Amino acid sequence: MIGTRHTIWKRPVARRGFVDGEYQDGELRGCTFIAGKRGMGKTTEMGRLLSACSGGVIFFDALSRHDSVLKGYKIVSQPGELENYLRANAGRRFRVLYQPRSGSLEQHFQAVCTVVRAFGWMIFGIDELDMLCGPQWGDSRMCPEFYHLVNYGRHCRVSMLATARRPMSVARGFTSQCLEMRLFGMTERTDLRYFEDYIGKDDASRLATLDKYQFLHWSGDGPAKLCGGRR
Ligand SMILES: Nc1ncnc2c1ncn2[C@@H]1O[C@H](COP(=O)(O)OP(=O)(O)OP(=O)(O)O)[C@@H](O)[C@H]1O
Ligand SMILES: [Mg+2]
Repeated sequence: MIGTRHTIWKRPVARRGFVDGEYQDGELRGCTFIAGKRGMGKTTEMGRLLSACSGGVIFFDALSRHDSVLKGYKIVSQPGELENYLRANAGRRFRVLYQPRSGSLEQHFQAVCTVVRAFGWMIFGIDELDMLCGPQWGDSRMCPEFYHLVNYGRHCRVSMLATARRPMSVARGFTSQCLEMRLFGMTERTDLRYFEDYIGKDDASRLATLDKYQFLHWSGDGPAKLCGGRR
């Protein structure tokens, strides 16, 4: 493992670095999916996870409306501006909120994915990933630039997390690569069935009973843990 280590109660804990073949920062490693009905707290949880990162973070704000939520982020709206900012800040603890305020959302996303891949060593967060997936990209339902990050991002030390309300509208190629999921309340039967494949029938049935702001944290080792809740 390459990276920094902090000692907590004499037990070494990997905080940031290349761990088990994936770039890790804070609680994030590999691909993470955050799903659940509207207003359940997905973006807030994503902001919390990113705030615990000690290295670079880019948050792709598809709706361009989260500047009041993500305080202290550098707002960038063009890929060239992003590239210049990263040239000056690569290797540091940077926080970028990318807001594609004008022009084609898809072209912005493709350009940002290309820049993320070129610089590497960062966490790439995508809010409302469903807006960026679709049949226009063929069977993969992802643009080639994002497809590359999903499948080979670990080679350029990029880990990702993304939110969406419903799993069906996100490329299965993304969810299939997720090491972790944070699943907020949902009741739609097709959504529950979708997650059964990943988290099992028992945990999937718990999703329909969650209170607002609660979520199940699934990481593939045993039953999902109940987390969150009203502050
Ligand atoms: N644990 C919490 N306790 C109390 N309020 C919360 C909690 N988490 C989020 N909120 C508040 O709930 C509202 C919705 O949160 P958030 O925007 O994160 O939801 P969302 O699931 O991303 O919604 P959308 O699907 O519309 O994107 C916000 O006003 C936020 O401040
Ligand atoms: Mg949201």
